[in-house]
Amino acid sequence: MSTPGGLIRLDVHLTDADADAALRTDVARGLVARPKELPPKWFYDARGSELFERITELPEYYPFRTERALLADSVADIARSSGADTVVELGSGSSTKTRLLLDAFSGAGTLTRYVPQDVSESALRGAIDVLHRDYPELVVHGVVGDFTTDLDRLPGADPGGKRMIAFLGGTVGNLLPGPRHEFLTHVRSVLAPGEQLLLGTGLVTDPAVMVPAYDDAAGVTAEFNRNVLLVLNRELGANFDINAFSHVAVWEAEHEWIEMRLRAVRDLHVSVRALDLDVSFLAGEEMVTEISAKFRPEVIDEMVTAAGFVPSRRWTDPDDRFALSLVTAV
Ligand code: SAH
Ligand code: AVI
Repeated sequence: MSTPGGLIRLDVHLTDADADAALRTDVARGLVARPKELPPKWFYDARGSELFERITELPEYYPFRTERALLADSVADIARSSGADTVVELGSGSSTKTRLLLDAFSGAGTLTRYVPQDVSESALRGAIDVLHRDYPELVVHGVVGDFTTDLDRLPGADPGGKRMIAFLGGTVGNLLPGPRHEFLTHVRSVLAPGEQLLLGTGLVTDPAVMVPAYDDAAGVTAEFNRNVLLVLNRELGANFDINAFSHVAVWEAEHEWIEMRLRAVRDLHVSVRALDLDVSFLAGEEMVTEISAKFRPEVIDEMVTAAGFVPSRRWTDPDDRFALSLVTAV
């Protein structure tokens, strides 16, 4: 994708063949694990990305609007203390909230380039088109890629320039602790000393607030959860009956994360044609489809420090439900 001015570009670092191979590996492993599990990145085909957008508008889903309000209050400070000319965003989705950052960095006179990276090509294409229309002077360089495997191929800093990586939405909480540490260490390794990471994290708060955010009355999150089964049916020739699975969202106090699961409502046999795999579910059996970890401020500091960052600034909302942390690579 390019324009006469060459200001937009879309690179594919994760081809359909790569994604297919990764999906096969994850499903072959996850469906024989105990308990069964599927990684959350497979939610996000075009329909899943649309369902996530609907989730962000739900009254129960406070993380999105809380982070957006926090960003609105802090972007001027962030832009001033960062001075980056390139904003890279991981798991950028529709880039809706990012516009606040782009406006502030443009206002500070430093921004020349925005690099959104996402596994969802449909979400990325939609975002790039709209951003190019609204920010005609900005270089928008989209990258279809997986932030757990494709960070090394992200564009480097311009000569004499500086990047800030934004990882918003609380998506870091969708990684288990081990992979989360590996991920943050990897992010640090692709940055030069002095470059920064802006990290959005949900904070531990009242379960009566957190659980409904993942189990909304309108059932949109349930549809989002079950969408992963439709992805397996389409991509791997599986025959999941999605109506035979109910949506479960629980607060796991021991781990301080919300766990989303799909529960088989009756005994089931499922075959996954592309993998030549047959699996059984007992009535009531639950398959884990996502964790969404919530954090305490001291744990955020420990985890970024362990990955080689120094915490610089943090902003939290008045109800202490969400935090934005600006941390610097040392
Ligand atoms: N940052 C946006 C979107 C969050 S939804 C916000 O704050 O609202 C999570 C996004 O991460 C989705 O767009 C999804 O496609 C993307 N994503 C999930 N796993 C990913 C992975 N492993 N690599 C790259 N993108 C991923
Ligand atoms: C993308 N991620 C931060 C969302 C979350 O809140 O963990 C995904 C989501 N899952 C259910 N609702 C939203």
